[in-house]
Amino acid sequence: MLIRPKTQSRRIDGVLEHASGDKRFKILEVFMKRHQFRHDALIEVLHKAQELFGYLEDDLLLFVSHHLKLPPSRVYGVATFYHFFTLKPKGEHTCVVCLGTACYVKGSSKVQAAIEEATGISSGETTPDNRISLLTARCIGACGVAPAVVYDGQVAAKQSAADALAKIKQWTGHDAD
Ligand code: FES
Repeated sequence: MLIRPKTQSRRIDGVLEHASGDKRFKILEVFMKRHQFRHDALIEVLHKAQELFGYLEDDLLLFVSHHLKLPPSRVYGVATFYHFFTLKPKGEHTCVVCLGTACYVKGSSKVQAAIEEATGISSGETTPDNRISLLTARCIGACGVAPAVVYDGQVAAKQSAADALAKIKQWTGHDAD
């Protein structure tokens, strides 16, 4: 059994509470269950987490550590060792465009292209002023409201290029085009 220090238990309680309202955590939990919460499924689980969220943030790594009953240091270690994992981007704001099938057929690549053009960055990058990081995900569990984009952790439904540009404008304080 994994014994956690008190502060870490409090932290994981907060993470689980936050996760309860976000469908992506549920999908990830089902994925881990399908792998019987096995320790050796850690890399697959982190891949799935990155597909769902676009990047691996602290809460997500703690969530995985909790469910696989692995020490957080092990999960962080693996997430930081492999170059194909992206840790939380350094931008003040993050924008994750879903490019899963349902979103893609409804035009999410156009939303991505509009953001790239407006910000001058490609997916996986952060603007030079560290304002905005752009990432992509593969199905965030919101297919019914495709195309979906996650702005600072909040899933937004049926996003058009204009909606995304309006958000960028709100973040930067000036027109994105
Ligand atoms: S494909 Fe985008 S939410 Fe499922």
